[in-house]
Amino acid sequence: MMTSRIIGTGSYAPEHIVTNEDLANVVDTSDEWIRSRTGIGQRRIALEEGTSRMAAEAARRALEDAGMDALELDIILAATSSPDYCFPSCACEVQAALGAEHAVAYDISAACSGFLFALSTVQAFIQAGIYRNALIVGADCLSKLTDWSDRGTCVLFADAAGAAVVQASESGLVHMVMGSDGVKGPVLTCTARTEGNFLNGKTPELGYIYMNGQEVFKFAVKKVPECVNQVLEHSKTSLDEVKYFVLHQANYRIVEAAAKRLKQPMEKFPMNMERYGNTSAASVPLLLDELNREGKIQKGDKIVLAGFGAGLTWGASLLEW
Ligand code: COA
Repeated sequence: MMTSRIIGTGSYAPEHIVTNEDLANVVDTSDEWIRSRTGIGQRRIALEEGTSRMAAEAARRALEDAGMDALELDIILAATSSPDYCFPSCACEVQAALGAEHAVAYDISAACSGFLFALSTVQAFIQAGIYRNALIVGADCLSKLTDWSDRGTCVLFADAAGAAVVQASESGLVHMVMGSDGVKGPVLTCTARTEGNFLNGKTPELGYIYMNGQEVFKFAVKKVPECVNQVLEHSKTSLDEVKYFVLHQANYRIVEAAAKRLKQPMEKFPMNMERYGNTSAASVPLLLDELNREGKIQKGDKIVLAGFGAGLTWGASLLEW
């Protein structure tokens, strides 16, 4: 049976850097607090770009890396929970920007797990023989949904996009798992654009990100190792065979806790949240693109991708590069 192979990666982050010191001028916080609790040192915040523009740029770079023309794409999935508009979708805007006229395009909303969920969706189409060439983009501009007076969240989230070109192949994606727990949804929410119609007399309210950080932390340190173990057990692959665990870059303490539970050395857990913060759906493909461009992944390497986030949602994939 055919499977999904990532044949190109790309990413884009806005130029404008906001340091922890910059944020200390906005809310009551400090570089020391943010670094010690999260591992974040700075983040990129969009001035001009929206989600679609970042997504399209990451996609262009991924197509270039893959040596594929946009016209060859059968499907474009954009994982985002901060599209520029309710509609058209981010994926349709990316399609237009690329001139990928033969592709079907739509968005997937799974917050920080979005890239993993989109990859799984593409895998189902590829295994079914429906599509051959796919583009997956994870893009978020959470700075526009952040309450910049809430020091508990505004120091965490940031803007970026990451993309992968995926092609039907004999080898590549070995196995994936996904999960959701809507009952726990209220611990991480963003209620923008949901209120008001002429019947209930309410007007649209601005909604911002709300998070119960400790609950999210507990969820992440339990679920990440759990789904990584599930995907490996199913694939009869040992933890030691895995070269890199590319985890969602929310917080270095979550990554450290996962490494400890999995009894794996920290060198196998690359991190870039120091430079980018938590870029939500972009975080996994952004880090993957860095590793790929630095030549750190070779053909045949086994890589685990894992993400978790609002919903609540989580997922892991085992790839043979
Ligand atoms: N700067 C300074 N102090 C801050 C702060 C900031 N940016 N944010 C919160 N605090 C304060 C709190 O107000 C609280 O003060 P108090 O004791 O006077 O009330 C104190 O720090 C401790 O807050 P708490 O929420 O218990 O901190 P924590 O140790 O749990 O760390 C997080 C907070 C957000 C870093 C942590 O919970 C976390 O990483 N959670 C997971 C979040 C995540 O990854 N989300 C994304 C999922 S995709």
